[in-house]
Amino acid sequence: MNATGPESPLGVVILAAGAGTRMRSTRPKPLHEVAGATLIAHAMNGADAAGPERVVVVTGHGAEAVAQAARAVRPDVALAHQSPQRGTGDAVRCALPALEGFAGVIVVLYADTPFVRPETIRRAAAAVEAGAAAAVLGFEPAEPGGYGRLITDDEGALLRIVEAADADDAERAARLCNSGVMAFRAEDARRWLPALSADNAKGEFYLTEIVAMARAEGHACAVARCAEEETLGVNTRADLARAEAVMQARLRARAMAEGATLVAPETVFLSMDARIGRDVVLGPQVVVGPGVTIEDDVVVEAFCHLEGCTLRSGARVGPFARLRPGAEIGPGARVGNFVEVKNATLAEGAKVNHLSYVGDAGVGPGANLGAGTITCNYDGFAKHRTEIGAGAFIGSNTALVAPVRVGDSAYVGSGSVVTDDVPEDALALGRGRQVNKPGMAARLRARLASLRRDRSG
Ligand code: UD1
Ligand code: MG
Repeated sequence: MNATGPESPLGVVILAAGAGTRMRSTRPKPLHEVAGATLIAHAMNGADAAGPERVVVVTGHGAEAVAQAARAVRPDVALAHQSPQRGTGDAVRCALPALEGFAGVIVVLYADTPFVRPETIRRAAAAVEAGAAAAVLGFEPAEPGGYGRLITDDEGALLRIVEAADADDAERAARLCNSGVMAFRAEDARRWLPALSADNAKGEFYLTEIVAMARAEGHACAVARCAEEETLGVNTRADLARAEAVMQARLRARAMAEGATLVAPETVFLSMDARIGRDVVLGPQVVVGPGVTIEDDVVVEAFCHLEGCTLRSGARVGPFARLRPGAEIGPGARVGNFVEVKNATLAEGAKVNHLSYVGDAGVGPGANLGAGTITCNYDGFAKHRTEIGAGAFIGSNTALVAPVRVGDSAYVGSGSVVTDDVPEDALALGRGRQVNKPGMAARLRARLASLRRDRSG
């Protein structure tokens, strides 16, 4: 057999048809999440980073929902359907029509084993380019358990794969295991896959049988090795938690390598897609949910929860701030403790330092919102906007009843309920007027004391 050559195109098939029964979930397994992204998104992103010409996702259980999630990652993803699920070999066979005309190396990945690194995917493909008919990604787990065993000769060439259920004692003692990831040429797959047997303990069409087929044709097969961490499979909720831990360790390391300070890295939770700049400081117990961009020189103090928001350079938030989707905190702006911001833009240097809710709002540059400022953005039917001008000052405990506009450099007195627009440079007072009654406190005290005497006497 000829080597395909180092520039042969890569096709990736991601198997995502299985039932995932051990998750005990109504949600299809590929849609469970790690680091704020679905397992199928992780698998597809890993595949994408390896530079494939084609990606095919094979759906089965929960096909519609899984297909939708796959399209959200890559709108042009090719989809294949496998029903019923008759084994990994059958699943790849179902992907062949979607690979029509493709003449490169196919790498098979699994939606529930989504942490294989892009360079590892390339290494598996490279083993085929170097001349192997099939290359299998192998690893030596602490507990070989139910994994398929890789049986090699003295030189390390792959002779066959034996599923744990089909293995004899000697075979089961082999430590080198099948991660499930396999690489082979598309043209060979078209010949081998229709000929799989299903003559095994589970009565399934095993993909692993292609190794025996290649050898029967007189071709050599190879093992590419990887770390156990990459092959971590998600079959149970406990596996899902382990996968989260592995992914968090990777994401924290990446953020630090790119120049962010994580004061207590093991307490910070990051999403897959978090974009974190240089000289950013993330304090302890910060959660960075999906869709967050943190520019350079931002400080996020302890116990903040961020999601779908952008922090411009030099912004400072927390401790205990909650930034929800659509929050944009401008350059050098401040968001303090117990402040919630949603779908609102704080322009440069704006401050909301304490106990406030800012939703569906625009806050101008240098504006200051006092403690307890609330935008009343919802009337039970629709959301309305609040606009606060540049340099405006909102006194503490103000309710801004949207839709409402406070002009540039305007002042709003504390405790106001603002229902009408406030013109530029005006002072708005929207509260009951204070009345002082001289001596009244003393008279009141005397009357209450005499009432108490009457009652106890
Ligand atoms: C498979 C390998 C085994 C390897 C192990 C690694 C085979 C025959 N065995 O075993 O050597 O050690 O993975 O985890 O390949 N799937 C489908 N359609 C099907 C069957 C499976 O899409 O008809 C998908 C599943 O959703 C899953 C993946 O393929 O993501 C693996 O299937 P699974 O049944 O878990 O295979 P294992 O028994 O774990
Ligand atoms: Mg499995």
